[in-house]
Amino acid sequence: MKTIEVQNVGALPYAMEEAVNRLRINIGFLGNDIRKIMIISTFPDEGKSTIAVNLWRQMSEAGTKSLLLDVDMRKSVFKREHLPEASEKDGFKGTSDYLAGNADIDDAVCHTQFESGDIMMNAENVVNPSILLDSERFTEMLDYFSRNYRYTFVDVPPLDLVSDGERIGSQCDGAILVIRAGVTPTGAVKATIAQLERAGCPVLGVVLNRVENSKRGYYSGHSHYGSYYGGSYYYGQKIN
Ligand SMILES: Nc1ncnc2c1ncn2[C@@H]1O[C@H](COP(=O)(O)OP(=O)(O)O)[C@@H](O)[C@H]1O
Ligand SMILES: [Mg+2]
Repeated sequence: MKTIEVQNVGALPYAMEEAVNRLRINIGFLGNDIRKIMIISTFPDEGKSTIAVNLWRQMSEAGTKSLLLDVDMRKSVFKREHLPEASEKDGFKGTSDYLAGNADIDDAVCHTQFESGDIMMNAENVVNPSILLDSERFTEMLDYFSRNYRYTFVDVPPLDLVSDGERIGSQCDGAILVIRAGVTPTGAVKATIAQLERAGCPVLGVVLNRVENSKRGYYSGHSHYGSYYGGSYYYGQKIN
């Protein structure tokens, strides 16, 4: 297994770091059966990857063996944003390569600068990942990670256009739903929660991301989501 240095991770503003920290602690109370956690949202740009990478980083820093698994095989930007040098190295393999049978697990998983943190990112984007997600190899991969890591944080495409999230969620132990405060309509949030539950993927918690003062209260009439689904709201403040 190679070791690589993940760039642009951490150094969050204090309030955001604290919000991710609370999320990490709460995940620790979900019990031993919750191991594979999908980070999902309704639309693009709600903050899934930001939450996933920082949750993984904090969990790893706390000494809990964790894997960050990038299953956004359509439009992954992870490599560009966090591993800018990896693309230039010959033979760099990732999620789609592994699922297509073109790489072994040890070629596709990398150890990182965090002692307890490994990652498997998507190196090659593909047009139609559904076949890969339906394959036996995908199930076997998740089982392998479940046995070898205390937590696998699964970063996925948004739910709005494609059914990848449903497919992936049906094989995870639960999901953390990221909502961009004041932007994602409540109807869309409800539909997403229903979609995940139909797929057999319980919503473990909700992250209300990018809360700005003027938008506070946007979801106040719907705060029952939090308690009804056993989750909590986490308030991420605006970065910068
Ligand atoms: N709380 C936040 N405050 C400010 N910018 C944020 C916040 N969360 C995410 N972003 C930015 O928004 C953009 C989209 O976030 P990203 O995590 O890539 O979303 P997704 O994975 O849901 O598409 C990124 O440029 C990211 O840095
Ligand atoms: Mg993303």
